[in-house]
Amino acid sequence: MNILAIETSCDETGIALLEMSGTARAPHARVIENLVTTQIPIHRPFGGVVPNLAKREHLKNLPILFGQLREKHPTLKPDLITVTVGPGLEPALWTGITFAQALAKEYRVPLVGASHLEGHLYSFLLSQEKARRGRGRGAARAQKNIFPAIALIVSGGHTILLKLDSFSKWKRLGETRDDAAGEAFDKVARLLALPYPGGPEIERIARAGNPAAIAFPRPMLAEKNYDFSFSGLKTAVLYYLRDHAADKKLSAAMKADVAASFQEAALDVLVKKTIRAAADHGARSVMLSGGVAANQALRARLAREAKKIGAAFFVPDFKYNLDNGAMIGIAGYMAFLRKKHYKIEARGDMEI
Ligand code: KG4
Ligand code: ZN
Repeated sequence: MNILAIETSCDETGIALLEMSGTARAPHARVIENLVTTQIPIHRPFGGVVPNLAKREHLKNLPILFGQLREKHPTLKPDLITVTVGPGLEPALWTGITFAQALAKEYRVPLVGASHLEGHLYSFLLSQEKARRGRGRGAARAQKNIFPAIALIVSGGHTILLKLDSFSKWKRLGETRDDAAGEAFDKVARLLALPYPGGPEIERIARAGNPAAIAFPRPMLAEKNYDFSFSGLKTAVLYYLRDHAADKKLSAAMKADVAASFQEAALDVLVKKTIRAAADHGARSVMLSGGVAANQALRARLAREAKKIGAAFFVPDFKYNLDNGAMIGIAGYMAFLRKKHYKIEARGDMEI
C-alpha cells in the first residue's frame, strides 16, 4: 500500500511517500520519497523553536514540498494518508493536520493519525530496504527474535525507556522527570554560547575536549528505577561556568572540556540505565531513536554495551534520526494495522 505521510510537529516540515507491506509483526517499508525542509535557520536567532514562526513556515513549506512530490510522481495516488497528531507544538501540528485533511478529501482515501514518538520508535525499520539489498546487515534480522526489546527514545522533548514485547505491545519503564536529554544538550550549548540546536554543536566541540576533565553529576544513575533527570546536570554546568569563568570569557579549550565532560555525564546515565533495563528484562535487542540518537558517541557506546550483554542493537540511519515524514509513514501504517484510530486533532502532550 502506498502511504503519503506528513510531519509538522516541531521545526521540520516533512512529506514522504512510502510503499508499505507486511503485517504488524513484520512490517516492511520502502521509502520512495522523503522530503524534509528544516526551519533551523529561522529559529536560530531566538535560541529555540518559536511556535508561531514554526506554524508560518509549515504553512509555506507544505505546498512547496507537496508540489515537488507531485512533479516527481505525476500519477501519484496514495492508498492512505497519515499525519502526526502529537506530541508536539499544537499550532504546528494543526498545519499538517489541515493539509492532510484536504489531501484525503481530494484523493478520497482514509486519513490516519500517527504518533510522533511511535515514528521515532519504528524509524530503524526504514533502513530495511537497504538491508535486503545486502548493505546494512543489522536491519535484515530486524524482525526475528528481537523481542523482548528495550527502546530508548531521546529527542528534544522526550527521554523515554520502553520495554517491547512486539512492535505493537509495549510498556513504559521510565522517562525524564524534568528536562529531556536533547533539551539538556540545547541548554548547555546556550551556556557555552553555541547556536541552536545545541546537540550537534556540543558533539562537535566535545571531540577536542577531555571527557574526564570535570566530574559533573550523573543524576539518578544509582536509583533503582528507569527514570532520568537532566536539569541538575545542566545546573552543575551553569555553576561550573560561573565559578571558573567569572569574566564570561571562555577559552576554546575550556569550552571543549565542558562540552566533553557534560556529554560524558549525560551519555553515562542514558547508556547505563538502558543497559540495566535490558539486562533486567532479558532483552534480545536494544533500540535507539530520536534526534539525540544522531550523536555518534551515544550510538557507538550503546552498540558496544548492548553487544556485551548479547543483545542486538538497532538505530536508524542518520537521515532518519531527526524529524521526518518517512518515520510517520511507518507509524501511520502500524496505527492502521493496529486499528489505533487516533483522533484527528492536535494533541501536544500525547503519550506513547
Ligand atoms: O527528534 P528531534 O529532531 O525533535 C524532537 O522530536 O524533539 O530531536 C531534536 C533534538 C535537539 O534537542 C537536538 O539538540 C538533539 O536532538 N540532537 C542531538 C544531536 N543532534 C540532534 N543531541 C546530541 N547530539 C547530536 N549529535
Ligand atoms: Zn522528534
